[in-house]
Parts: sequence; structure tokens; C-alpha cells
Amino acid sequence: MTTTLTLRRPDDMHLHLRDGAMLQAVLPETSRHFARAIIMPNLVPPVVTGAQAAAYRDRILGAVPAGQRFAPLMTLYLTEETDAADVIAAHDSGLIHAVKLYPAGATTNSAAGVRDIARVQHVLDQMAEHGVPLCVHGEVTTSDIDIFDREAVFIDTVLDPLRRKTPGLRVVMEHITTADACAYLADAGPDLGATITTHHLMITRNHMLVGGIRPHYYCLPVAKRSTHRDALVALATSGATNVFLGTDSAPHLDSAKETACGCAGVFSATNTMSCLAEVFDGQDALPHLQAFTSENGASFYGLPLNEGTLTLQRGAPQPTPGKLPTPDGPLTIFDPGRPLHWQVV
Ligand code: NCD
Ligand code: ZN
Repeated sequence: MTTTLTLRRPDDMHLHLRDGAMLQAVLPETSRHFARAIIMPNLVPPVVTGAQAAAYRDRILGAVPAGQRFAPLMTLYLTEETDAADVIAAHDSGLIHAVKLYPAGATTNSAAGVRDIARVQHVLDQMAEHGVPLCVHGEVTTSDIDIFDREAVFIDTVLDPLRRKTPGLRVVMEHITTADACAYLADAGPDLGATITTHHLMITRNHMLVGGIRPHYYCLPVAKRSTHRDALVALATSGATNVFLGTDSAPHLDSAKETACGCAGVFSATNTMSCLAEVFDGQDALPHLQAFTSENGASFYGLPLNEGTLTLQRGAPQPTPGKLPTPDGPLTIFDPGRPLHWQVV
């Protein structure tokens, strides 16, 4: 049995770091293991302009613990007022690596997102021409669509028309959660990629809803039934090159989750690599883990591969993770609900 695994240092292609005291608390949990991350722009107010992204990047770099190296890969939050010239300049200068589309109202801090895609078509056209990737939160938001169907409906009614209308646009389907998304990706060409989170490879909606409601498993897109989880596991562990890790680690204080109307988001930065090794080991697919965590995402974004390495060791199961303290109160680390045998050493 394999007991030691050395990987090229990984990248997290979808990460929420927030700002201020929360940024200071959560960044070391990522920079300890990851060389780079695509940084989500859904702050309040959102990161819309190149100038805002540059200032946010500097705040992130200021929070990297001494002795560690970490490169934040910045993104811009697409609004109906976005200035296409500013986007292209920020990309050409190397400051930003993608633009994020949040359908208005789809998730945490998405109120400033896009209501009518036609109003941003000119920005998408410019992005296609200049090779700026679009990261998509793929859920429709209308109240008549059931929350468990929102991703599949989005693919048919928004994503596919958008891609047909914008030839050459490079798109990342963020945090996919359904077999429908896996099938759509399989049929697409090299301009389409997808991220999968750690938690969607491990939990189903039962974890969240059976035996009591468990707010720390509530995230968006919401976890689906096990057939979908199994499709995600099959895809992630298959060695396919158009799918890569985006943890969507999304910290919220326990006080904001353990309440009558709790926030969406799972915080998994701390134990993501242990969780992923467990999932891939369970599929006898450890040889494919490095492509998922350290190669496919970099290739999609046209980045060099990381030089350093990360080593995991298999041993006795570790205790379930606890909480991360912050000055404003604790936040809960993702509990995969099964023993984790692999640890980063
Ligand atoms: C994210 C957050 O908290 O910012 N929440 C989540 O449930 N994933 C937003 C997002 O990525 O949808
Ligand atoms: Zn996210």
C-alpha cells in the first residue's frame, strides 16, 4: 500500500479570502499548502476595477505569514457597469487572471452581479478577443426553479447560449455539483473547464439534512443526491485534463451560520489536501491527484507549473478537525464525516 505521496505544490483555483481580520485568520490555512489561488472578488463592496484588485492583492500579500510564499491570482467581479477597457488593461498587465460572473442574487454577496447577460455582452466579446477567462457561478436565480435544479437549468438556458454567442470565450464552470455539468463538460472543447470543490466530492444533501439540519454543510450550489456526488468523484479522479481543484473554501463565522437564516459557505482550506487524498485513494486513483490539484488548473490558465512539492503520509486516522479562531469568534472547519488517513507532513 502507498504510504507516502509527494505532489507538485498545489493551486486552489477558487478561493474566498475575505478581508481584514478574517483575511488574516484564514490566509495561512491556504498558504501553508498552496502556492497560488484564484481569489474570488465577492467582497462588500465587490472588487470591480483593476485599481480595486491591485489594492486587494496588496492586502492579501501583506497577510502572508513570514517565511511563506503565496501568489494571489486576482479576479474582477462582473457588473452591468463593468468597463471593458479596464478589464483588458488589468489582464494585459498580469494583474488579473479572470472575470467572475455572479448572476444577481445567486449566492453570498452577489447582489451587484449581472441581471441581464445582454448588458455585458460587449465585455464578454472583448474578453474572448483578448483571452480573458470567465469564471461562472452557474445557477439560475428565479424563484420558480427548484434550488436542486438551478445548475442544470443554468447550463441549458444561460451557459450554452452564452458560449454560442461568444465564440472563443474561455469559461470555467465553477464548483460543479451535478452529473449534468459533468456531461456538458465532457462534450465541450478546450475552451471549457470546470472546478470541483473538496466538499462536493465528499458530501451529499443527506449530510446536511438527515438527523438534524447541519448548517456547516450548507453552501451554494447546494450539495445534491449521491448519484451526482458519485459523478463528480468519477470525473475528478479520472485524469481528465479540463477539471481541477477549486475548493470554494468560504469562511463565515459560526455566529453567521448557526442561526435561523445561515450563510452559505464551507470552510475547507485547512484539511483540503487530506480530504482529497482520502477521496482519490478510495478510488485507487492517487496517481491522478497531482493533475487535479497541481497541473490542470495551471494549464487552463496558462500559468507555469509550481516548482515546489507537498508530501502527504498515510497513517492512523486523525481526529475530526475543530475550529479556527478569529478575533470576531470561531469558524468551523469542514468535517468530512469519515476518517482521514492522509496528512500533509
Ligand atoms: C460563497 C461565499 O460565501 O462567498 N459561498 C458558497 O456557498 N459557496 C460564494 C459562492 O462561491 O457561491
Ligand atoms: Zn465561491
